[in-house]
Amino acid sequence: MSSDTQVAKLVLEGKEVELPVVTGSEQEKAIDIRKLRAETGYITMDSGYGNTGSCESAITFIDGEKGILRYRGYPIEELAARCSFLEVCYLLIYGELPDAKTKEEFESAVTRHTLIHEDMKKFFEGYPRNAHPMAILASMFCSLSTYYSSDAGLDQNIIRLMAKAPTIAAFSYKKSVGQPIIYPRNNLDYSSNFLSMMFAVPAQDYVVSPVLRDALNLLLILHADHEQNCSTSTVRMVGSSQANLFASMSAGVLALWGPLHGGANQKVIEMLQRIYEDGSDYKKYVALAKDKDSGFRLMGFGHRVYKNFDPRAQILRKAAEGVLAELGLKDPLLDIAKALEEVALDDPYFVEKKLYPNVDFYSGIIYRAMGIPTEMFTVMFALGRLPGWIAQWKEMREEAGSRIYRPRQIYTGATQRSLS
Ligand code: CMC
Repeated sequence: MSSDTQVAKLVLEGKEVELPVVTGSEQEKAIDIRKLRAETGYITMDSGYGNTGSCESAITFIDGEKGILRYRGYPIEELAARCSFLEVCYLLIYGELPDAKTKEEFESAVTRHTLIHEDMKKFFEGYPRNAHPMAILASMFCSLSTYYSSDAGLDQNIIRLMAKAPTIAAFSYKKSVGQPIIYPRNNLDYSSNFLSMMFAVPAQDYVVSPVLRDALNLLLILHADHEQNCSTSTVRMVGSSQANLFASMSAGVLALWGPLHGGANQKVIEMLQRIYEDGSDYKKYVALAKDKDSGFRLMGFGHRVYKNFDPRAQILRKAAEGVLAELGLKDPLLDIAKALEEVALDDPYFVEKKLYPNVDFYSGIIYRAMGIPTEMFTVMFALGRLPGWIAQWKEMREEAGSRIYRPRQIYTGATQRSLS
């Protein structure tokens, strides 16, 4: 960020206040209001933080109007086509793509830390069989802090989190289907190992499909960071109190769970299934989404930032078609999704409100083809988003003069009154 020679002038109660203008490396501009309250007594109101810059960050750049998403300057399309998820993790967390030696060391470290402490397996036994895996993931992330202290050093705990997250996720799935857990295998890459822990069964060979491995790698990369969204800002908020890494990531999982955020991927498939069971009359649901009284929204549509297209959704639409074709599968839900998209993109309601398919619209079709149950979809999002949360947390904690997050409010309750 550079301080600009330009200033913003605000006239309040006849008094002129000058506020500095700051400019980011992509020429994004902001008015720095930090001194506003001290000088005028006023705060700014922005419910939902739609126009509030809460931090400076060098990690991810989004231009919502142009449909641009870049991690550390690299376009998402290039990273998705050419990198492994762990390379992208390294890029997000440490700022540069790893060279060959560093890549090998990082991958080997993540691979060698995939086991969770045997005692932690007992935690899984305590949950009811139908426990939502996001609840389990959040509590297990937090529980990691009881095994690994911050004294181990940040890099070591980053490796542990990245390595153990897929193990925890897969164990929670195995618990839900009543199958024995499958331990991680050190001879497999990150995505293959996860698929093996999910779908292998004891005493039977499990060969990882390269189609599924590559599809998972792609999905994880596309979800890896998205600047200041609900879960990431939660991670920063919690971390700003100097809460430990594991506790902060647990908070991120919980924020992601909601249906307006990462939970939307589960809701999309449930919606498509409902339409299918209702005779595939998708136009009826487009009409319902336009009717405010119905309380129904087209899940997987709309985005606070993207106002033309979500580049991740475009990549995923193609990938969904490719994965189904390669596996020789046909999914009626993909046909409904494409038909819905077509109708909505042509409908004045969606056009005027700039509502387009987002990342969650097509991801579920691929997860389904992989055999991942609907309840696990948001866990898959969390596995992908983890390096982004870590990178944002690390950036905040390493920033000179970083302060605890503490917004203001305008009080609208009762004025002073007495009990008597
Ligand atoms: N279906 C129908 N109408 C919609 C939809 C939708 N999916 N999304 C927004 N609208 C309407 C909304 O009713 C409002 O209309 P009006 O201006 O007449 O009141 C207008 O569009 C703006 O909506 P908003 O809720 O004020 O927009 P927002 O920026 O606060 O919310 C959103 C963004 C993503 C939460 C919202 O579009 C939504 O609920 N989408 C469905 C859930 C979803 O797919 N979430 C995943 C988001 S992408 C991945 C992620 O971040 O996790």
